Amino acid sequence: MSEILKVAMPKGRIYKKASQLFRAAGIYIPEDIDDTRKLVIPIPEASLEFIMAKPVDVPTYVEYGAADIGIVGKDVLLEENRDVYELLDLGIARCRMSVIGLPDWEPGIRQRVATKYPNVASQYFREQGQQVEVIKLNGSIELAPLIGLADRIVDMVETGQTLKENGLIELDSMFDITSRLIANRVSYRMKNDQIQGICDSLQQVINAAAR
Ligand code: PRP
Repeated sequence: MSEILKVAMPKGRIYKKASQLFRAAGIYIPEDIDDTRKLVIPIPEASLEFIMAKPVDVPTYVEYGAADIGIVGKDVLLEENRDVYELLDLGIARCRMSVIGLPDWEPGIRQRVATKYPNVASQYFREQGQQVEVIKLNGSIELAPLIGLADRIVDMVETGQTLKENGLIELDSMFDITSRLIANRVSYRMKNDQIQGICDSLQQVINAAAR
């Protein structure tokens, strides 16, 4: 009997895609947990325990070893810069990080950029040689250029619907985002067989989908 592996799962929109992928890989996840409000979910049949975390906190749980592995978007990984192993590109929740503004945007003297990703945005504009003031927001980022808080934003674009409905355009595409499987460094050594087993099963599904 293997040890219980703690998995930090992102609550919300990525969870559904991640659980589908796990099931396709033959990992048992009971159907009734998809809509539960429980935060710690033992799945003894699969020797797993799901920890339902806010997506932005997944790398923190994994870095500190409160979870052995986790699923998280590349956007969060880059922003949080936690000391974890990135094991696998799961290819789900595909979207991109972009610089966004109103169609008539022109560089002004004082440039403000609003974002949920201040580290990612600061690094990007530094590399571009642009001096900007980065303002951290926690959601509805598209509001900022509409009401004059900032002249541009850095945010995720998935379908482009939010931009379209708010009359905004992508000024620059920064990088592509997908969800990743990450592991705690110690867990990866101590529970290597178990973690590698999950990795291999997921990899097979990913390869089959790519064919
Ligand atoms: C995300 C993102 C964009 C939107 C992009 O927001 O910040 O606003 O989705 O998706 P689309 O291109 O398919 O329209 P989210 O729904 O996570 O809510 P938030 O405003 O709280 O960040």
